[in-house]
Amino acid sequence: MLFESISQITDLIKSALDDKRHSFRYGNLATVGSDLAPRVRTVMVRSIDPKATLSFYGDGRALKMQHISQNPKVSLSLYDPAEMIQFRFDGTAKICTDPKRTQETWAHVPPILQRDYTTHKAPGAILDSDGLDYLVNENFFTIVDIIPHQIECMVLGKNGHQKTLFVTDGFEWSKKALVP
Ligand SMILES: Cc1cc2nc3c(=O)[nH]c(=O)nc-3n(C[C@H](O)[C@H](O)[C@H](O)COP(=O)(O)O)c2cc1C
Repeated sequence: MLFESISQITDLIKSALDDKRHSFRYGNLATVGSDLAPRVRTVMVRSIDPKATLSFYGDGRALKMQHISQNPKVSLSLYDPAEMIQFRFDGTAKICTDPKRTQETWAHVPPILQRDYTTHKAPGAILDSDGLDYLVNENFFTIVDIIPHQIECMVLGKNGHQKTLFVTDGFEWSKKALVP
């Protein structure tokens, strides 16, 4: 597959997000905090808009949120093994500070999944033998948007590989073919 436009990419990812088994739902997000040590982890991509801004949810106490506050430059890769397509989004992560959007989105999170954002201890803390406690009237649900400044598409093919780089100045996207 040859990628010609940003809308082709956003349409492809958007339709993949509607398919519960599609691997594009799971991105590998890399952050680098003030200790300059990179850290990668899986996040579930929740949405993509026509500007290719991706969103995911997390617990506001997680280390990734500290990293993003210290250094908002992130990289997120998506890979579809069926089609051997990889996208790498390089951009800026923004932690949503709009309470209305956060509350409206939270209201659509199923109650069983809401629990993930209400643990008494922060994610990554040592779990003691008493198990997990949940807060009742408090949550750390946080939406993060990733605003890409470039997207690299790599497609492996039997008859040759293709790599295309899309770069934006915030208004327009330009496209270059790269050596794969
Ligand atoms: C399949 C899968 C999906 C995940 N989705 C998310 C997610 O959407 N958001 C999130 O914060 N963590 C998610 N996690 C957990 C992260 O990979 C990570 O372990 C956790 O967020 C703590 O990362 P941090 O300490 O670097 O912040 C997911 C893990 C797996 C295995």
